[in-house]
Amino acid sequence: MNVKQLLSARIETALERCGAPGPALVKAASRPEFGDYQADGVMAAAKAVGVNPRTLAAQVIDQLDAEDLAERVAAAGPGFLNIHLRTEMLAAHLDPTAALLEKSAAPQRVVVDYSCPNLAKEMHVGHLRSTIIGDAAARILEALGHRVIRQNHVGDWGTQFGMLLAQLDAAGGELWDLNDLEEFYRAASVRFREEPAFAEASRAKVVALQSGDAAARANWQRFIDISLSHCQKLYERLDVGLTEADVMAESAYNDKLAETVALLEGKGLLTESDGARCVFLPEFTGKDGGSAPVIVQKSDGGYLYATTDLATIRHRADVLRADRVLYFTDSRQTLHFQQVFAVAAAAGFKPAAMSLEHMPFGAMLGKDGRPFKTRQGGVIKLNALLDEAEARALALVRDKNPSLSSAEQIAAARALGVGAVKYADLAKNRASDYIFNWDQMLAFEGNTAPYLLYAYARIQSLFRRGRLDPTALSGQAEPTHPAERILAVALVRLQEVLEQVAADGCPHLLCMYLHDLAAKFTKFYEECPILTAAEVETEKRLKLAQQTARTLSTGLGLLGIGVVQRM
Ligand code: ARG
Repeated sequence: MNVKQLLSARIETALERCGAPGPALVKAASRPEFGDYQADGVMAAAKAVGVNPRTLAAQVIDQLDAEDLAERVAAAGPGFLNIHLRTEMLAAHLDPTAALLEKSAAPQRVVVDYSCPNLAKEMHVGHLRSTIIGDAAARILEALGHRVIRQNHVGDWGTQFGMLLAQLDAAGGELWDLNDLEEFYRAASVRFREEPAFAEASRAKVVALQSGDAAARANWQRFIDISLSHCQKLYERLDVGLTEADVMAESAYNDKLAETVALLEGKGLLTESDGARCVFLPEFTGKDGGSAPVIVQKSDGGYLYATTDLATIRHRADVLRADRVLYFTDSRQTLHFQQVFAVAAAAGFKPAAMSLEHMPFGAMLGKDGRPFKTRQGGVIKLNALLDEAEARALALVRDKNPSLSSAEQIAAARALGVGAVKYADLAKNRASDYIFNWDQMLAFEGNTAPYLLYAYARIQSLFRRGRLDPTALSGQAEPTHPAERILAVALVRLQEVLEQVAADGCPHLLCMYLHDLAAKFTKFYEECPILTAAEVETEKRLKLAQQTARTLSTGLGLLGIGVVQRM
């Protein structure tokens, strides 16, 4: 149950009844001694209608209909409302057999556009971010009952493929070793720059490819297949849910591009400029103050990235019937998406009710604050990165718990290594750049994967020590001790946090929540003995521990991170 939303709705009704409508601004309280939640909206609502906020606060409490949720609501300060949740409600949520999550009453069809590497090259860290963040968003939307349609819009078309085909010819057309895609691409681009004959051959290959030449097509396809299978292996290693069925490549829209441009023309949106066909929209101004064009067809007839995205929007509206489309790419593409979304709206490709949302993220930087590269300045290989993560995690696990069997150490290191890389990325506000730092992501202190995985494993060890089966626990548990209550209030917030992440595409809110929950559990564990307490206390506290473990593993699972029983 989304307590925050329920409280907001009730308080907003009360505000209306008092003749002072406005948002309730409910949030989890920061000082538990004053309440579990607080509402800050009364002040602004009072100001808007010119009444005393303290007086309005008292009236709102009088008009409020929330006995089922709150046992006490008190006005404080200049007009805050402090809300104490009903203990029975918390007790019901602490039943370890109760469902943790509720599905949306209004499920949507949500396209999640993520990962999307360019197949000419090896996947780089920017695509790693998109893959990790997009995967978490997709899992969370699904858990809330939405129909998620994953779309891996891989870049498999364009001039760089001419270069690769020319390079393939130069290699005698032999099936080349593509273990090193990056090197193959680099060699081709050097030759493209330095050898006019090679550049000429590359351009001829692009023409051959576009005109459907069978040999060029077949080689291109070989190239795509190899490249995609590399991606697929990486997805599996990362435990990301993408499969080949989710691939909807740029080239899949090729035969819709001419039609898309014709539709824009039919709407009177096209202007010719230097031979190129463009859409000018008043909201996009260029440097000279004039309107900056969105080019949809070049003077040589070629189409662009934006044209493909327009055709893609038509597909997502007309065929996939999406209510929402979320695009996870780095923030350098912000203008591209603003323009494409505006053109799609102007052309009517986007139904009014469909929402197109760019979810940009910052760059991944090295410790020096510069783009993340190898010591030699090369592109980081994602597999090598994950190898290093697992090796570092293994050393850490051995150090932390030498009594684990070697198989257990390896299992824990796997979860920890990949988990740490993913979590470090997910835990930052995606909008900011993020500094990749091994020591930080593998620390057992702070908002890290090790901290959370360890918190989970510690609860499991508690059950082992007590020779208890956590799945045998059932029934309500009434929190009475202050530390129990603080933990119970944190536990009831999972739903509201997930709904927020689903709305904003910001998994760091879930990370923050899980970290806070684990910290509250630690505090509770320090203050409330479990196995040595009186029997009724023990049972109640075990339920709190079990709900915490369930919430941690559910939350981590939704971030794409698996838990381990021992660490
Ligand atoms: N392949 C693109 C890139 O690497 C990202 C594609 C994102 N999705 C989209 N529909 N444009 O920059």
